[in-house]
Amino acid sequence: MQSVMLTGMQVADRSQAPLYVRTAETFIHQVANGALRPGDRVPSLRKLSRQQGVSLSTALQAYMWLENRGYLDARPQSGFYVRTPLAKLIPEPQFETGKSQPTSLGTNAVLEEVIRSASDAAYIPFGAGCASAELFPNRRLNLIMRRILHRQPLHSANYDFPPGVEAFRRQIARRSLAIRCEVSPRDVVVTAGALEAISLSLRAVALPGDVIAVESPLYFGILECVAALKMQILEIPTHPQQGMDLEHLERAIHRHKIKACVTMTNCHNPLGYVLPDQHKRALIALTARSNVAVIEDDLYGDLAYEDPRPLTAKSFDRKGLVLLCSSFSKILSPGYRIGWILAGRFRAEVERLKLVTSMAAPSLPQLVVAEYLESGGYDRHVRRLRAMLACQMESVRQAIAKYFPAGTRISRPAGGYMLWIELPSKVDALKLHRAALAERISILPGRLFSATGRYKNYIRINCGHVWTESHDRAVLTLGRLCERQL
Ligand SMILES: Cc1ncc(COP(=O)(O)O)c(C=O)c1O
Repeated sequence: MQSVMLTGMQVADRSQAPLYVRTAETFIHQVANGALRPGDRVPSLRKLSRQQGVSLSTALQAYMWLENRGYLDARPQSGFYVRTPLAKLIPEPQFETGKSQPTSLGTNAVLEEVIRSASDAAYIPFGAGCASAELFPNRRLNLIMRRILHRQPLHSANYDFPPGVEAFRRQIARRSLAIRCEVSPRDVVVTAGALEAISLSLRAVALPGDVIAVESPLYFGILECVAALKMQILEIPTHPQQGMDLEHLERAIHRHKIKACVTMTNCHNPLGYVLPDQHKRALIALTARSNVAVIEDDLYGDLAYEDPRPLTAKSFDRKGLVLLCSSFSKILSPGYRIGWILAGRFRAEVERLKLVTSMAAPSLPQLVVAEYLESGGYDRHVRRLRAMLACQMESVRQAIAKYFPAGTRISRPAGGYMLWIELPSKVDALKLHRAALAERISILPGRLFSATGRYKNYIRINCGHVWTESHDRAVLTLGRLCERQL
C-alpha cells in the first residue's frame, strides 16, 4: 500500500474553521478528487505537521476528526489508512420511470413555508440553494465597485436598454469560447438572474396552454415559472446519472406537440449529474429534428468539480434552437441579480420581451462584474470555490451515510451544491421537513421538485455552506427524525 503526500492545497480562505478542520479538509478534497484511494496510507503525524506547517497536536486532532467521520482507520503500530468512505457504499437514488401527462401546477403552500424558513438565519440552512457568503469574493467586488463609483459617478444616470452593458456582454461572449459557442457581444441579452432568463425564454418560444417538457425531478423555481406563464408541464423521467430519458422524450414530442424542453445538462439541480457530451449531442439531434426549442439552464456549469469545464447542449446546436440561460448568482453574488441568455434564433424576441417587461437591467452590477472578469481573478476564484464545494459535499454525504437509516440512497453529484436523497419508502419527507423546522433545520421536501406529487420520500440538501460541527449535529438530528417514522 502506498503512502501518499498530502501536499497542502489550501482549498479556500476558511479563517473561521478551526485549524485542524482546515487541515482535515485538505485530505477530504483529495479523497473526493481521487488523489487518495481506499487503502492508501496517509503521512505520519510528524510528516503531516511538517507538510502543513501545523503542530503535532493539530495534526493528531485532524486525523481523529477524520477517523470519527469514517474517512480513516487507525491501525496500531502502523499509522492511518484511507477507509472506503461509507457514502461510496450507499447506492444512488432509483430511476423513477412511468407514464406522464401534461399537467398544470396548483398553488404551493409548502413553498411559502420553505421560503420563510430558508431566509431565517436561525435555521441550519440545508434548504434554500445558497452558499455561505464568505465563499464569494465580496472584498474584491466591493473594491471594484468603489473604484467605479469614483471613476464614473454617473454610472446609473441612464437606462442601459437591452441587450445590456456592452463591457459585460463582451466578457460573456469571450467566456463562451470555453463551451465552444462562438457568440458576439450582440448575441448576449442581460437579464435579472437566471430565473428571469428562463421566463423570458419560455415566453419567446411558447404561449399559454403550450406543453413544456421538463426533467423530473427538477428545480421547483422552473416548475413555478412554467406554471405562472399558464403553460403545461410534462415531466420526463430522468436518470440520476444519464439524464432525461430520450426515448420517452421522443414519444412525448410526437404525442403532445411539445413546444420547448427545459433542461439542466450540467450540475443538475437536484440530481447533481454532469451529462456526457454524447448525451448532450443526442438531445440536440432529437429536438432539432422536430424543431423543438431547448431552454438550457447552465447556472452551475462552472461549478463542475472536474476540469475541463463541461460543454453544454448549446455547444452542439447548429440550428439556433437552444436558449442558454445562466447567471452569477451561485458563483459571485445572488444579490447582484445579473444573468444572461444566449438566445440563438430567438434573440430579437427575447430582447423585445426584456424591454417591455422591465426596460433594462441594473447597470452597476454589470460594470462591476465586467471589470472583475476582465481583471482575471474569476478562474482562480472558481477553482477554489469548486474545491470547497466538493469537500463540503463529501462531508454531508459522509454524515448522511453515518446517521441515516438503512435503505437511504444518496446522489453522487459531479458539481454544484445539491444533494438528492431517497429515504426509505415509509418516510414522509413533508413530515420530516416540518419536524426538522421544529429543530431549527431547514430542508426541502422532494415533492417540490415535481408537478405531479412525486418524490414523497425524497429530500434535497443544500451543501453550499461551510461545514461545521453544528451541521454535523443537524444531520444526526435529521437521521433520528427519519428513524422515528419507521
Ligand atoms: C437550477 C436553478 N435555476 C435557476 C435559479 C435561479 O437563479 P437566479 O438566482 O440567477 O435567478 C436557481 C436558483 O436557485 C436554480 O437553482
